[in-house]
Amino acid sequence: MAAMQLFLLTTGLTLLSVVQAGYINRGECATTDKLLGNWYIIRWAGNLPLPEEKLRSRLPPFTLSKNKIGYLEFRMNISKPIGCVEFKLALNEAKDKPCYFSLWIWHYVVIVFVGGENFGFAFLNAKVNDIHQKMAMFMGRRNHTAHPTMLMDFETLVSQLPLNKTSIINPPFDDSCELGKES
Ligand SMILES: *[C@@H]1O[C@H](CO)[C@@H](O)[C@H](O)[C@H]1NC(C)=O
Ligand SMILES: *[C@@H]1O[C@H](CO)[C@@H](O)[C@H](O)[C@H]1NC(C)=O
Ligand SMILES: *[C@@H]1O[C@H](CO)[C@@H](O)[C@H](O)[C@H]1NC(C)=O
Repeated sequence: MAAMQLFLLTTGLTLLSVVQAGYINRGECATTDKLLGNWYIIRWAGNLPLPEEKLRSRLPPFTLSKNKIGYLEFRMNISKPIGCVEFKLALNEAKDKPCYFSLWIWHYVVIVFVGGENFGFAFLNAKVNDIHQKMAMFMGRRNHTAHPTMLMDFETLVSQLPLNKTSIINPPFDDSCELGKES
């Protein structure tokens, strides 16, 4: 879309501070190969124009795998009245920008590991057609247990976006659909 205007606001400060300083846990840029497997959404925050009960709805785990053309693929089984529906989204690791994955053209998400490779933060801060979209997610392998110092780091990230820390959601876990096999 030619009319789409995007300003990435994360390029400087936010990213550098997540990776290098100001956080309790060490941050490191994620890569496609290191992200593969099953993940749980521990916390999330975002300025989505949705009613409160929708924002606080149950969330299933998701799988990150590699698709046929080598892109990272986000897959989530969502429970619908008709049954479980698999939602897919391709994320292409930017070759020239560490930590950045393109969500679709001109739209990027930043993914960093925190304190090793079992926990990560994914966030988006973009301006599209005058709407400033912000979203952050704290994800973990194995289970949805929050590590206390990582939770504090996540609050720091949310405040930097900036979003209100009080808007952080601890989503109830949805295990009504089958989780894919660990790759
Ligand atoms: C959840 O994962 C953490 C580390 O990722 C581990 O220390 C903890 O024991 C796990 N909890 C359960 C209930 O499996
Ligand atoms: C964050 O939200 C709380 C209540 O929802 C409000 O009292 C507070 O003023 C907000 N803080 C900022 C910085 O907007
Ligand atoms: C979704 O469920 C199907 C089985 O119903 C399973 O084969 C698939 O791996 C699941 N996908 C994810 C992302 O959990």
